[in-house]
Amino acid sequence: MERFVITGGPRLSGRVLISGSKNAALPIMAATILGAGQSRLENVPDLRDVATMAKLLRLIGAEVRREGHGLLVDTEHCSHPEAPYDLVSTMRASFYVLGPLLGRFGRARVSLPGGCAIGPRPVDFHIKGLRALGATITLDGGYVLAEADRLKGARVVFDIPSMGATANVMMAAVTAEGTTVIENATKEPELVALADFLVKMGAKIDGAGTDRIEIEGVKSLSPADGSIIPDRIETATFLLAGAITGGNVDIAGCCPEHVSAIINKLEECGVKMTLGGSAIRIEGLERIGAADLVATAYPGYPTDVQPLHTALMCIASGSSVISDTVFPDRFTHVAELNRLGAQIMLEDKVAVVKGVEELRGAPVMASDIRAGAALVMAGLVARGQTQISRIYHIDRGYERIEEKLSALGAQIRREGK
Ligand code: UD1
Repeated sequence: MERFVITGGPRLSGRVLISGSKNAALPIMAATILGAGQSRLENVPDLRDVATMAKLLRLIGAEVRREGHGLLVDTEHCSHPEAPYDLVSTMRASFYVLGPLLGRFGRARVSLPGGCAIGPRPVDFHIKGLRALGATITLDGGYVLAEADRLKGARVVFDIPSMGATANVMMAAVTAEGTTVIENATKEPELVALADFLVKMGAKIDGAGTDRIEIEGVKSLSPADGSIIPDRIETATFLLAGAITGGNVDIAGCCPEHVSAIINKLEECGVKMTLGGSAIRIEGLERIGAADLVATAYPGYPTDVQPLHTALMCIASGSSVISDTVFPDRFTHVAELNRLGAQIMLEDKVAVVKGVEELRGAPVMASDIRAGAALVMAGLVARGQTQISRIYHIDRGYERIEEKLSALGAQIRREGK
């Protein structure tokens, strides 16, 4: 099994180019099912999760081909509306095909995602929303069976904003009969990107990016071409990697507006940043200040970056209190950071981090994408060598992270190929 070996110390410096967003690419790939024919997607990151979605689309009958930084997806001959357990269990976002399959074929059989390292992640909102649109949904042998002759527009109110459920219901509603209103929708940029792509395919959608989305159903959609927005979580990762090493990093090809919560938090820690149109320059600090954090739905501080902020706080001057309202159990990184010499106490789903002068390298294990990224960040400053195992988690969501970090002067290498 592959691992990262990092020797901590060097301050990062130089320029890094941000890749396309994983969380925008995955639902957009699923959306191509809705328009029979060839869709071309540009700026698609070369990631394990993208490969998993491509595999799933091929099982459904699509042709998927890499073309440089893009993907060609031909969904003309899709005929098998099913997502098997072995794929959905490795990547929860496989569940995104449910809405599009139902819209195109009037039926779908998709495995329930099952357990996940970041705590319970149900799909009840997806199911409730599709039922509201008139789908008959039964659960059988760990699979969701959804059927509907033609879905009918309805009002869908979510208890809390959910990216997955908003996307799935939106993709089902675009070809439903009549108008669908989604209330308490997620405002995440990836949802807006999906809505923009669906509009290119011929959908009628208003209000994406607000908590009320209105969709007027059309008969059918056509294939479309689109480009994937920059990955805001990768942007945040390089911002925090710059901050933790006290480096000077130019982050290019990003969308600063999508990371304002992170920029505000880093400013609270004393970090200086200069914003350009699609670039952020971060200037290192000798020692970072401490700042409490509550991760919340967008435009709040992203839960995906919470583990990275926790890593940053490990070497801050002072103590901080961290909680996560989106995934309250998302703290598997805490025990591993403590192995590196961090002083984090976890009690009642709240992490109290006492900043220490330095971390020390040790063997640690990644348990999910972002917990893994938090360990990489800690490894960048830990004295001596840090070995991170199970890096296949990190590869799910980061394109060539070790190459990008090495180009900024980090001492990181992949072993065990
Ligand atoms: C997406 C992102 C993930 C990110 C998360 C929150 C993708 C592929 N993944 O995951 O990286 O961490 O948004 O920003 O884009 N919930 C329910 N019932 C449901 C659905 C969700 O209770 O049916 C709850 C969840 O437990 C959580 C909250 O809603 O507390 C938000 O989750 P959601 O936005 O759905 O997460 P994902 O779409 O799975």
